[in-house]
Amino acid sequence: MSGSPAKTPRDSAVEARYLVMPQHANDAGIVFGGTVMSWIDMAAAMVAQRHCGLKVVTVSVDSLSFLAPCHVGDHIVLRASANYVGHTSMEVGVQVTRENPFTGQQVRTTTAYLTFVALDAREQPTPMPPLRLETPDDFRRHDHARLRVAARKELLQRLRPRP
Ligand SMILES: CC(C)(COP(=O)(O)OP(=O)(O)OC[C@H]1O[C@@H](n2cnc3c(N)ncnc32)[C@H](O)[C@@H]1OP(=O)(O)O)[C@@H](O)C(=O)NCCC(=O)NCCS
Repeated sequence: MSGSPAKTPRDSAVEARYLVMPQHANDAGIVFGGTVMSWIDMAAAMVAQRHCGLKVVTVSVDSLSFLAPCHVGDHIVLRASANYVGHTSMEVGVQVTRENPFTGQQVRTTTAYLTFVALDAREQPTPMPPLRLETPDDFRRHDHARLRVAARKELLQRLRPRP
């Protein structure tokens, strides 16, 4: 771990909101997946930067499913927070909901998990400050993230080319 003090998920959480405009959508008025992915990456990167106060890079994004479409005129609300901190890497979870601006009705459209690595001045991985869990949600997200971290490590190990 770095010498920096621990931070809670609340300390670095980010909420972002976008209005879907015609340039974000296809000819059926449904938002492009790639546009939402870039908003997800940006919100999650800001969480990682706020957690460690260092340069960070996205090293992986778990498989993404789009559960419901978002249309031109919808609000897209992203809630991103730190789930887990390893040694030089951390997992950030992002919940994406579509909100009808007239009724306020919200529908979950995506949940994404991204891993970031903190870099030092030589752009080498460097330790992150620890994560201090406070709420039952923090503990639940952390438990689930540990399972995903273990699964990712096992998959990477299995897929590694053998000499
Ligand atoms: C991020 C990067 C510096 C990591 O280099 P590396 O040689 O894999 O470093 P390490 O093996 O020391 O791994 C560093 C951490 O990343 C984790 N990690 C590495 N590859 C991973 C992957 N595919 N998925 C999840 N975590 C991963 C490791 O488990 C380790 O975590 P820990 O220190 O918390 O245990 C390097 O892969 C890189 O520069 N990638 C490009 C990043 C980038 O440009 N992103 C923008 C995308 S366009």
